[in-house]
Amino acid sequence: MPIDQQALDEFLARAVNDLSASYGGVMVSLGHRLGLYKAMAGAGPLSAREVAQRAGCAERYVREWLNSQAAAGYVRYHAAGETYELPPEQALVLADEDSPLFLPPAWNVPASLWFDEEKVAGAFRTGAGISWGDRHERLSCGVAAFYRNCYRGSLIRQWLPSLSGVLEKLEQGATVADVGCGHGHSTLLMAAAFPHSRFWGFDSHEDSIVAARNHAGASPSGASVTFEVATARSYPVRKYDLICFFDCLHDMGDPVAAAEHAATALAEDGTVMLVEPFANDRVEDNLTPVGRLYYSASAAICCAHSLSEDGRMALGAQAGEARLRAVFRKAGFRTFRRATRTPFNLVLEAKL
Ligand SMILES: C[S@@+](CC[C@H](N)C(=O)[O-])C[C@H]1O[C@@H](n2cnc3c(N)ncnc32)[C@H](O)[C@@H]1O
Repeated sequence: MPIDQQALDEFLARAVNDLSASYGGVMVSLGHRLGLYKAMAGAGPLSAREVAQRAGCAERYVREWLNSQAAAGYVRYHAAGETYELPPEQALVLADEDSPLFLPPAWNVPASLWFDEEKVAGAFRTGAGISWGDRHERLSCGVAAFYRNCYRGSLIRQWLPSLSGVLEKLEQGATVADVGCGHGHSTLLMAAAFPHSRFWGFDSHEDSIVAARNHAGASPSGASVTFEVATARSYPVRKYDLICFFDCLHDMGDPVAAAEHAATALAEDGTVMLVEPFANDRVEDNLTPVGRLYYSASAAICCAHSLSEDGRMALGAQAGEARLRAVFRKAGFRTFRRATRTPFNLVLEAKL
């Protein structure tokens, strides 16, 4: 085959950019862990020595790190005074832990994938699964920290109000199950916003439930929340007004059985809120940076967990609304609609 030189140059530039970004991920993680971004936030132009002093790090390392950040466009370099500045927009993404746009913990997920690469390669060859509990701990911590900030930005203000009649019930006092709750951030956010309601968080991964209980212990609203180890098919039936699945239904080996259990566990006029990674229904419509991230996570993490649960239907992280609707229809739900969306999430509502 003849080589198209322009196509080769363009693709190589892209691949080198990706390689450079993967080095940058480690730099972002270091910047977060060592407090370098926080030392720069709101401070204006600083010399490498000043950044190092503020963060309590060695200047020589910090100067090299700052140059990597300047090359990435993460900090601004002022050549005249040899100073570095973190612009406010970058600070929102890199330094402000309460910002819904805060990204550094998300780099724990690709870090965990490198740790688990051998296991994943083996699974690709044999078709065997890898359960959520059999992964490097940076996976669950990274997912929990990344989504916690998304949920902080959207869950109470945008997602719950987009469901029909749910906000009123929560304000008056509702019974809520958060299935596949992970480290429990979604459950605790709802508990803080709706003090008259009662919350249960369930997850099959014991270490996640331990982490969720620790977070509850440190939260003033933790008393209205109970975290229990249970699968999506075995948690107690309490006639819940709201059952939530945050970014977990597609991980389950048998999502139809999970939806059927929700149908049994739901109050007569109850609601299921299904939050899934944003996806269109067709592969060709998901070929975007977000789609690339999710397909990669899906190949290495989500499908692997589904298959570890003797998955009959490894939905994958880019299942899309039509496939998710089919799951709930099969489980006996008569209403299924898109309530809202963000660049990262689809929020779907199902009722019996
Ligand atoms: C991607 S994490 C999402 C965690 C959390 N909901 C969040 O949004 O941060 C998926 C979670 O689903 C849980 N999970 C997977 N299969 C499950 C099952 N069959 N029953 C209950 N939990 C399950 C995993 O243990 C994991 O905590």
